[in-house]
Amino acid sequence: MAGRILIVDDEKDMLTLLKRIVSEETEHHITTDRDPINALKLFKKETFDLVITDLKMPKMDGMTLLKEMKKIRPEISVVIITAYATIETAVEAVKQGAYDYITKPFERERILLTIDKVLAWRNMLAENETLRKALSEKEGTPPMVGSTYAMKQIQGKIKQVAPTTATVLITGESGTGKELVARAIHHNSRQKNEKLITVNCTAITENVIESELFGHVKGAFTGAWKDKKGLVEIADKGTLFLDEIGDLNLSMQTKLLRLIQEGEFKPVGSTFTKKADIRFIAATNHHLEEDIKEKRFREDLFYRLNVIRIEIPPLDSRKEDIPLLARYFLKRYTLRNRKNIRDFTPDAISALLSHEFPGNIRELENLIERSVIFSTGELLGQNDLFPDNPPEIICPEFNQDIMDLPFREAKEKMILFFHSQYIGGLLQNSGGNISRAADAAGIQRQYLHRLMKESGITADGFK
Ligand SMILES: Nc1ncnc2c1ncn2[C@@H]1O[C@H](COP(=O)(O)OP(=O)(O)OP(=O)(O)O)[C@@H](O)[C@H]1O
Ligand SMILES: [Mg+2]
Repeated sequence: MAGRILIVDDEKDMLTLLKRIVSEETEHHITTDRDPINALKLFKKETFDLVITDLKMPKMDGMTLLKEMKKIRPEISVVIITAYATIETAVEAVKQGAYDYITKPFERERILLTIDKVLAWRNMLAENETLRKALSEKEGTPPMVGSTYAMKQIQGKIKQVAPTTATVLITGESGTGKELVARAIHHNSRQKNEKLITVNCTAITENVIESELFGHVKGAFTGAWKDKKGLVEIADKGTLFLDEIGDLNLSMQTKLLRLIQEGEFKPVGSTFTKKADIRFIAATNHHLEEDIKEKRFREDLFYRLNVIRIEIPPLDSRKEDIPLLARYFLKRYTLRNRKNIRDFTPDAISALLSHEFPGNIRELENLIERSVIFSTGELLGQNDLFPDNPPEIICPEFNQDIMDLPFREAKEKMILFFHSQYIGGLLQNSGGNISRAADAAGIQRQYLHRLMKESGITADGFK
């Protein structure tokens, strides 16, 4: 079972030793880095199953690295390596969400056992997730919030392509909403009453994936004591969502190509092929074009998948959506946690706009969920969001880009930005009631309606 492990330690010898232990005994992919700041950058770009980090490092200590990584992916498992002297800090790290700590000097068995435990745990989580998703599909898709031009185009494209049978490739950084787009396509498609089956190509280990996808016949391998249907057969007539397709190995890519091209597959250990009628959607945060150049991804498979391409831009390039999204998540987590928070303070919104979100919408969502849980007031302030290090507040829209535009365009852009923030706030306060929102602002209902239409805001998201 091959997982992806990132090891961070400023001592070169330590990295070499760890790498040797792990690669001698297992098939895991190891990435090492001596510089925690670099490691964090890498972590933002790539998907790892486990991070092993030293505690004492000059540029950034392991504890801070842990916190930063958890902000981006709260579910990541981090193991801390520590000398006896710093064991207290290591215990503290576990409280902060580290999976475990290992003391130096360590035995090779201890390292291997911990890695085994973490990866087995992650596999189990992934399986549960598949089951949970299959159940929650019945409840429909959450709305796609966003009123920027980029998001409207994506929403339009979803409506256009959903009813066709075309294969769709969704690309974008981690946490931008690829899975949400895939679900929206399925739920607007002709096969919406059939199943949507998600396969997470990263989470399923290499030797399991073939039987997971295509099923197996009795006796195909030890433990295969009866025939088992694969996800492809279960998804027949419905949609198969291949998540993180860039992580699939080359031999599985070949088998998948055959399935997409011919609609045929062969269960493991079987001599007969079976047929399946499936709509395919794939997603990845890789640049597949680069993977093709480096021979990690089959070009023919890429062209089969890339019939329709939906590219989701990072959140930092569509900051105008932040107030809308933030209020949407505020409402969701206020209800879920039975809190009584009405809105953000204006400086909280400015702080959100000034903050960078490398983890995109998922990071914003986590930030708001966390703040809602800890907040006690009726308004969520800047301090609730960023208790440790508040961002320096700027009006992010009013920057050099604006200064480079002609007056009219600059003004239009600023007004659009103002409208989406102001109207979002009004509707939030009125629970989506347009008449009450218009009253509160002292404008005519029809005028508010027109403004909402122009900014692409609907009242539904606020009810
Ligand atoms: N436009 C949106 N409106 C509301 N919620 C959104 C939107 N986009 C994403 N989300 C939410 O953000 C979270 C992350 O989205 P999603 O899992 O779809 O991202 P992803 O691109 O698949 O990420 P990853 O590459 O890490 O798997 C989810 O909880 C999702 O519901
Ligand atoms: Mg995803």
